[in-house]
Amino acid sequence: MAFTVTPLSPAGAAEVVGLDCSRPLAADDLAKLHQAFLDYPILAIRDQDLTPQQQAAFGRQFGPLEAQDRSPYTHPDDRDILILSNEIRPDGTAVGIVDAGDFLHSDSSHLPEPCRITMLYAVRNPSRGGDTEFCNMYQAYETLPEATKRRIAGLHGVHHVSKTKNPRVVVSPDRPGAKDYYEARAKVVPEIAQPMVRTHPETGRQALYISPRFTIRVAELADDEGQPLLDELFKHMKDKRFQYRHKWRDKDLVMWDNRCLTHRATGGYGLPDIRRMHRTTICGDKPFYRPAA
Ligand code: OGA
Ligand code: MN
Repeated sequence: MAFTVTPLSPAGAAEVVGLDCSRPLAADDLAKLHQAFLDYPILAIRDQDLTPQQQAAFGRQFGPLEAQDRSPYTHPDDRDILILSNEIRPDGTAVGIVDAGDFLHSDSSHLPEPCRITMLYAVRNPSRGGDTEFCNMYQAYETLPEATKRRIAGLHGVHHVSKTKNPRVVVSPDRPGAKDYYEARAKVVPEIAQPMVRTHPETGRQALYISPRFTIRVAELADDEGQPLLDELFKHMKDKRFQYRHKWRDKDLVMWDNRCLTHRATGGYGLPDIRRMHRTTICGDKPFYRPAA
């Protein structure tokens, strides 16, 4: 299949045109797409017509899909698809997760083996808003002062899923029961230490691996040192040079690499406008840091 890969942003996004993801890819197409993904960790594949089953099958070509544990929001046609949506049924129940990803994060960094790739398929976009913002964490790392790089090498961030343990975020008032959910999670879910600098297992490049959403402190430092360090790093991450803001077109399938990016949903839309995304995630492995030779 002849398809093109064209850069969209110096922050590591490219658009893919001419690819049909509804059918199994030929080996050489898969290899070309995989290489493009290592070169551009945000790939916007345009003009896809995908049933939930086809989207899941496309994802599996990159590795096993994660099982979705939030079953009320999985797609009835394929339980490996999670629905993100602000749509509310007449009985008041939500069709999908309403406020997924509202603070900068790397997907499931609070788990021992965070997901490697996230694939989001735009089924329906609101008339305005709904963009997704990405931060290239290779670039955020590479532009740190050398002294900061030395300081954080070998340190670990403590990650946790509960928003109630994290003063840098707030619980969305739009998600019913969210505060109770996070308070319960805070009690039972263990904290996970992740390397602050993550070596990408395929490219060998170093990336900063922290986020305001999930990183609540530095494991090796007392808060009087660790919190200002996190504040400094989070401020550095905001530099416009590392950001790419994706404005969704209908039928975009965007795949991104959680090992070297953070991202967030920017919101800015509301009912009666509906945003609906179908989401799959590919299993990943345990993050590690290998000092450069
Ligand atoms: C996600 C996520 C952002 C968005 O699906 O992991 O953070 O804009 N989504 O929907
Ligand atoms: Mn996310």
